Amino acid sequence: MFSIVAFTQRSVDLFDEENFIGIGSTRKVYRIEDVVVKKHLHELGYMQSVNEQNIYNDLLAKDLANNIAPILFVNGKFAVQPFYEALPLQNGETYDLDWKADQRITTDLRQALAEISENLDGFDLKDSGNYGIDSEGKLVLIDYGMTKKLYEDQWVPLAEAGVLPQIYFEHCQVCGQEKELRIYGEADRDRRCVACGKE
Ligand SMILES: Nc1ncnc2c1ncn2[C@@H]1O[C@H](COP(=O)(O)OP(=O)(O)O)[C@@H](O)[C@H]1O
Ligand SMILES: [Mg+2]
Ligand SMILES: [Zn+2]
Repeated sequence: MFSIVAFTQRSVDLFDEENFIGIGSTRKVYRIEDVVVKKHLHELGYMQSVNEQNIYNDLLAKDLANNIAPILFVNGKFAVQPFYEALPLQNGETYDLDWKADQRITTDLRQALAEISENLDGFDLKDSGNYGIDSEGKLVLIDYGMTKKLYEDQWVPLAEAGVLPQIYFEHCQVCGQEKELRIYGEADRDRRCVACGKE
């Protein structure tokens, strides 16, 4: 498992673009062997990683953390998590999970989701893009640090001001593929995906 010392000794570039695997509105994610390094693009990304670490510890103490991706390390610049395979898309898009019917959700995860949404102010916990799949085909929650309060007080104003991007699923104007595009405010007309040069 991850050892920051071992990586530093081997002078691994944590943010090598060749290892880029995903990006949200506040964190950019790179895979190194069996872990991911999530670079904080904005202070809000850092706040989410810290929230995740606290939520993880809270769930662990209640024995509800078996299908939650731990935060193995966090500092102001990045956080580290185990790597999980992505869920297959539906019609090229992420979709809302059915917590009751989805066979890939364990009883532990169902209880943890109830705890996070009812008692820990959790937000955006239905989107399949916030989950990975473990080696047994069960769902693992990977993105759970956004609270309703953080979303309303900080994320929305920053997105409206064009500081943080909103993520839309559209055709990239360069490669033509339907992808998640990062759009900064209403005036942003740049419809390129990250692979085609948009930051
Ligand atoms: N532990 C992980 N294993 C595999 N892929 C991941 C992992 N964490 C994040 N990703 C990928 O990186 C993307 C962005 O990470 P995420 O944590 O959702 O950032 P944000 O909080 O900015 O939305 C995810 O949608 C997913 O595709
Ligand atoms: Mg996300
Ligand atoms: Zn493109």
